[in-house]
Amino acid sequence: MTKKILYSSQQKYLDSLQPESEPLLKEMEEFAYERQIPILSKAAADFLEQTILIHRPKRVLEIGMAIGYSSIRIARSLRGKGMLDTIELSKDNFKIAQEFISRSGNEDKINIIEGDALEILPTIKDKYDFIFIDADKEDYEKLFYYSLLLLNKRGVMFIDNLLWHGYTASKNIPAKYKNSTEYIRKFNKLFVSQKVLKTTILPVGDGIGLGIKLD
Ligand SMILES: C[S@@+](CC[C@H](N)C(=O)[O-])C[C@H]1O[C@@H](n2cnc3c(N)ncnc32)[C@H](O)[C@@H]1O
Repeated sequence: MTKKILYSSQQKYLDSLQPESEPLLKEMEEFAYERQIPILSKAAADFLEQTILIHRPKRVLEIGMAIGYSSIRIARSLRGKGMLDTIELSKDNFKIAQEFISRSGNEDKINIIEGDALEILPTIKDKYDFIFIDADKEDYEKLFYYSLLLLNKRGVMFIDNLLWHGYTASKNIPAKYKNSTEYIRKFNKLFVSQKVLKTTILPVGDGIGLGIKLD
């Protein structure tokens, strides 16, 4: 779904090296593409899994599950008793995700919560080692501040779409992306200025914000 943000020959070369996804993930990628449901790019999902494998979190929170593609990617990289809580607003997506997650065999590692993360996050008492934010862009600031309170020290914040199809770094923005681009630009400044996080924004997929909560 995500448009490329880099058009160089290096990007084409890297894409050509990417192995094909395994059958269920490939089916989900095609399903999302056909129905125009935005999910992580393969490169960003690979990076997400690598980050999980390195950090070995026990408790992960995902905000914005869609059809469960990133949820399955996270769950299959969890080790030991690692668990994922994932929040999804759309009833339709919720049902589709349940089906895919059950087919993936990872349902025992994924706790799906239906509802609005803006209402659910303030009620959560537990803390997380890893939080992945991938919901509506205009809500990023609020979701981020709630998440920061729920993140353990040395925990990881992983945020998608910070290059927003390349528009955050562009002068020519189509009318329908103007507002969302402004939200993300404002959010990016806020994100990198956090004193409690060591942050970086990486040109992976649609732009990944990575923040580690300092001791
Ligand atoms: C970009 S998609 C998530 C894609 C998914 N993370 C993946 O890569 O497979 C964003 C999802 O966030 C959900 N969403 C948006 N705002 C939300 C909110 N406030 N609370 C919970 N879910 C929300 C939307 O319904 C949509 O399914």
